[in-house]
Amino acid sequence: MQQRGVTIWLTGLSGAGKTTITQALEKKLRDSGYRLEVLDGDVVRTNLTKGLGFSKEDRDTNIRRIGFVSHLLTRNGVIVLVSAISPYEAIRQEVKQTIGDFLEVFVNAPLAVCEQRDVKGLYAKARSGEIKGFTGIDDPYEPPSNPDVECRTDLEELDESVNKIWQKLVDLQYIE
Ligand code: PPS
Ligand code: MG
Repeated sequence: MQQRGVTIWLTGLSGAGKTTITQALEKKLRDSGYRLEVLDGDVVRTNLTKGLGFSKEDRDTNIRRIGFVSHLLTRNGVIVLVSAISPYEAIRQEVKQTIGDFLEVFVNAPLAVCEQRDVKGLYAKARSGEIKGFTGIDDPYEPPSNPDVECRTDLEELDESVNKIWQKLVDLQYIE
């Protein structure tokens, strides 16, 4: 299948639903026959960006490396799904400029909701001081000022979030 590459970049707090949306969108795209690759912050930190921590410098390096690989894939006609907190606006913008075919998706749920979900128990550890520099607690998250798509995961169903991104891809003629 002739296919245009694009990077779909999901940014948001831990527990906002980035991975969940990514996996659902991945399945829907695969079922329709699209070639794609997934780069999830949590996963690439065990290989591509292994050894990096959560200082601003390390997070920026993490995002730039993910962006680099995304660029290679995108320019070869692959749909790339990135899910990474990517807390800093400037680096997201930098990656966007480099890749060009790039959609920024803000996976948005209030901090209180993410903390309530606490799927991995990390917020509790951040509150108790066991983890330092946790995004949203004692480390910054800069929300996108002008995202291409916003998914309010506390207000909408997973299907709705996935369909919003899908529709944007159709509108921009990345998929049919
Ligand atoms: S970043 O900021 O984009 O480089 O982060 P990312 O690569 O997406 O990794 C986020 C996942 O790492 C876990 N984790 C932390 N997140 C935020 N802050 C701190 N200090 C931290 N320590 C570990 C957490 O599981 C994140 O996964 P998600 O899927 O976002 O919950
Ligand atoms: Mg995740």
